[in-house]
Amino acid sequence: MTTTESTPTAAAAPMTELLAGGAYDPVQAEETITALRVTGTIPEYLDGRYVRNGPNPIGPVDAATFHYFMGDGMVHGVRLRGGRAEWYRNRWVRSTDSAKALGEPAPASSGVSVAANTTVIQHAGATLALVEAGGSAYALTDELETVGVWNFQGTLPGGYTAHPKLDRATGELHAISYRFDRPGRVQYSVVDPRGRARRVVDVPVHGSPMVHDMGLTQGHVVVLDLPIEFDLGRAMRAVGVPPRIIGPATRVASRMIGRVPMNGRLADLAASRLRNGDMPYSWAPQHPSRLGVLPREGSGVNVRWFEIDQCFIFHVLGAYDEVDEDGRVRAVIVDGVRYDSVFDDDAHGPEGLTTRLARWRLDLVTGKATDSTVDDRPQEFPRIDERLLGNVYRYGYATGLAPDTGFIDGRIVRYDFQTGQATWHSLGSRVEVGELVFVPSGPDAAEDDGVLMGFVHDGETGADRLELLDAATLESVAQVHLPVRVPHGFHGNWLPS
Ligand SMILES: [Fe+2]
Repeated sequence: MTTTESTPTAAAAPMTELLAGGAYDPVQAEETITALRVTGTIPEYLDGRYVRNGPNPIGPVDAATFHYFMGDGMVHGVRLRGGRAEWYRNRWVRSTDSAKALGEPAPASSGVSVAANTTVIQHAGATLALVEAGGSAYALTDELETVGVWNFQGTLPGGYTAHPKLDRATGELHAISYRFDRPGRVQYSVVDPRGRARRVVDVPVHGSPMVHDMGLTQGHVVVLDLPIEFDLGRAMRAVGVPPRIIGPATRVASRMIGRVPMNGRLADLAASRLRNGDMPYSWAPQHPSRLGVLPREGSGVNVRWFEIDQCFIFHVLGAYDEVDEDGRVRAVIVDGVRYDSVFDDDAHGPEGLTTRLARWRLDLVTGKATDSTVDDRPQEFPRIDERLLGNVYRYGYATGLAPDTGFIDGRIVRYDFQTGQATWHSLGSRVEVGELVFVPSGPDAAEDDGVLMGFVHDGETGADRLELLDAATLESVAQVHLPVRVPHGFHGNWLPS
């Protein structure tokens, strides 16, 4: 890639300080605001909601043990229609425990009560707050109130994922799900356009890995089997097991997990003890790093594993099948953000880590994987025009990470894989940009004809806004100014009306 430069913005403070009075500090009020100041012009084609999820603990947390990934889920949404910003709303997702903490009746539960704090999607007419690791998905109203647990009409009772992939040709959602009490396998599911699982396939993996994302191509599913594993000792400490018996208790429990069914009440109890506390997963250097290629309609025995250099991947930018001139699929290409290691000694969440955008080519003929660097500048939250999911894409986008802290800063990057150009663009020296999602100007618009949308924090003024950028030029199109703070979170999506 050739690169146009931009300077990294001011370094942020450590996560503990950002959580206390900084841009990650949770808010403690739910707001509905209809008078919103807008600068620029909101495109008329935008009719829907931008909704983003993230951890936002209810009440104070213990700074000594709080892991940023573990807080109660809060969704923040902005409704756009007819060139106007009609409202901003933020709402906690009412899981069993968060409803209890708010003094409200808990929604009927049919799964483990982990905070649904990671993303929001729209499928089968429902707005869904999602999380991984066996936690229930929750359905929300158009106004972001929690309706209750969503288990795909009883077809997927064991939790889902925060990174399902929608195949626009079929309207089906593809997902890889995992749970600590189902070691040795992950679950590949395909949910039909009406919201029911039509396929559920177990795929064997090593141990009990965290599997945050996946790849989907025209013909294959890419499974990430990488070295972060469920850490039973850490989980025991987090739920309050006395240190002197953690050793023997871990040995007994490790023999039971996966053999003795974990009933809902026990799993719920463990989850509620972990709420707003420590993360029971850690770096597991003995775990191999490998990518599995499974034919979409294959079963677990059909997966082909490709060993790669040790690393972790939270997020895949995109994946596609490489086809030769005779139309045969020769390789699977996976682009993703690569960490050398993570959750090693970072008690409060990823901090001070270096990432890069990498490309893995999984050669189906030789069985070998090769890894190359697309861009060695630290970044996260990679996204493409998701109309192209599973196919070759020309453009990709990501948010820059400050090289010294590993936290998001004020830069974004646009990749043109056809010309090999990486364009880094700064939104300001004290600005912090969250994940940006691409929204096309119409169903048949060209790949970069549309806007990039996401929440932006201005460290100079302390003000937050929803920013709309021209995806082709990265220039600002419109800004919806928010009179309240929107703490940084994880993932958002444009949910069209
Ligand atoms: Fe994610």
